[in-house]
Amino acid sequence: MLSEVERQELEEAVKHYPDKRGAAIDALLLIQRRRGWISDETLHEIAQFLEITPEDLDSVATFYNLIFRKPVGRHVAFVCDSISCWIKGCEQVQEQIKTLYGADFGQTSPDGRLTVLPIACLGHCERAPAVLIDQDVYGDVTPEKVEQIVEKYK
Ligand code: FES
Repeated sequence: MLSEVERQELEEAVKHYPDKRGAAIDALLLIQRRRGWISDETLHEIAQFLEITPEDLDSVATFYNLIFRKPVGRHVAFVCDSISCWIKGCEQVQEQIKTLYGADFGQTSPDGRLTVLPIACLGHCERAPAVLIDQDVYGDVTPEKVEQIVEKYK
């Protein structure tokens, strides 16, 4: 069930849209910030608040890759695997993350610290390969730099 605080935050978010449904992404992100991910139950609660079907809200949630429909670690690392980053060695960066933290794409490290996901172009191509961790974008990432970067995220 949505808490009073969550409900208040959603009420605030929908004020910015002529139709409640327009706030779907904002609403999902707001609740995800509090709960870490969007379970089926949470999705239904938000859909009810937005007066939208759970199926329609799920379409939004699964299309937008910053919404997590499964539990994630304390931090999420998105490794860009689009063309510029691929040319500049994103696969080696991904491999190094896997070696150091035991998490391949779609997996979470055994200590629950880091979930690793692929992402399309982060708009940081001039500094490929690029990695987004939580809200922070890193460019010119090399396998050698991975540990130094990830160590900031406990
Ligand atoms: S291709 Fe990776 S940031 Fe653009």
